[in-house]
Amino acid sequence: MNPNDLSLSQIQDLVRAHGTPLYIVSRQQIVENFERLNNGLPAAKIFYATKANPHAGILETLKAAGAGFDVASKGEIQAAINAGANPQRDLIFADTVKDPRHIAYATSVGLDDFTFDNPSEITQIARHAPGTKVHLRLAVSNHGSVAHLSEKFGATPDQAVALLKAAREAGLVPAGISFHVGSQCLDNRRWVEALETTREVFDASHAAGMELETVDIGGGFPVRYGNEAIDIDATCKVITSHFHRLFGTDTRLVAEPGRAIVGDAMILVTKVISESLRQGQNWLYFDDGTYGSFLEVLLYQAQYPLRSNTSGPPTPYVLAGPTCDSIDVFSRDAKGNIAPVTLPEMHLDDLLIAGSMGAYTFSEATRFNGFEPPKFVYID
Ligand SMILES: Cc1ncc(COP(=O)(O)O)c(C=O)c1O
Repeated sequence: MNPNDLSLSQIQDLVRAHGTPLYIVSRQQIVENFERLNNGLPAAKIFYATKANPHAGILETLKAAGAGFDVASKGEIQAAINAGANPQRDLIFADTVKDPRHIAYATSVGLDDFTFDNPSEITQIARHAPGTKVHLRLAVSNHGSVAHLSEKFGATPDQAVALLKAAREAGLVPAGISFHVGSQCLDNRRWVEALETTREVFDASHAAGMELETVDIGGGFPVRYGNEAIDIDATCKVITSHFHRLFGTDTRLVAEPGRAIVGDAMILVTKVISESLRQGQNWLYFDDGTYGSFLEVLLYQAQYPLRSNTSGPPTPYVLAGPTCDSIDVFSRDAKGNIAPVTLPEMHLDDLLIAGSMGAYTFSEATRFNGFEPPKFVYID
């Protein structure tokens, strides 16, 4: 059952048993989301992007379903190993900015697949993972996606062959190309364009005497937060048909989805712990906020579906978290300015239920002011 479909009385029972703030997670929904991508991209091996949500129960569920893991640090490697992952078979180190100590740790446990996008990463990988496989990350258009990832990461296509050659000269094995179209990508054309650019780099590499074998299409598959038009099956069909058109059947395909696997499999329940009237506006303060689960409201103007356990008249509220910082307000408009949202009248001890809270919530939560992240409860 999707936790978004739990009744208020079921949610209140869970809150009575476990307290707030509380994440309620469905393993079944995680497996369904994984299988939709796994079946939709039959040529691909799926490496779940651990950064989206590294909670042990989620990683264990995905390991049992057959996923590998995209990891970015020693901590994520350990979390994946604790969930049963085999480092050599199940893990890829897909972050292009790696702490060299974490590269050394990865090597010590057998992980042998790293992504890079600049000469200094070649130096670091060659020092701490000599002879390993490497993938070159390309910067591709992220136009229209919510979180842009090609500003900070990725080489340009014209740098690609020189970087792959430099990797080979450093004793590494250039194995393929990766890219990321940006998180919450709502336009399938981004994958098509990126695959076409990747084909050009494959051809230029071949001309330079290097046979690449893997295309890693990263993540970016979207989650429904409001009324976005999302059809994951259709996105997978587009990717699959263009992948086969451009690469035939001999090239290995890899994907690193995060958001689309966990996003709608978890809800958050947070409680009103204080309320006030400020300059004519009603403010509600909760036991979770921007420094906890709602950072993406500030970073990317995320709009999570919200409901309450109350039934009073519709009332506009500014929603704020518990910390000592005034930026800790999680009702914001599309420009990021503080804005009220309308909810049934709420007061002390009432509950706010935020849907589609699985991705980049728990993993981005801080401990500012001594607040712990919410507890997890699995409903299946
Ligand atoms: C290298 C890499 N792979 C995969 C992902 C997962 O992306 P998404 O959650 O949009 O699927 C990210 C997200 O930041 C990333 O940086």
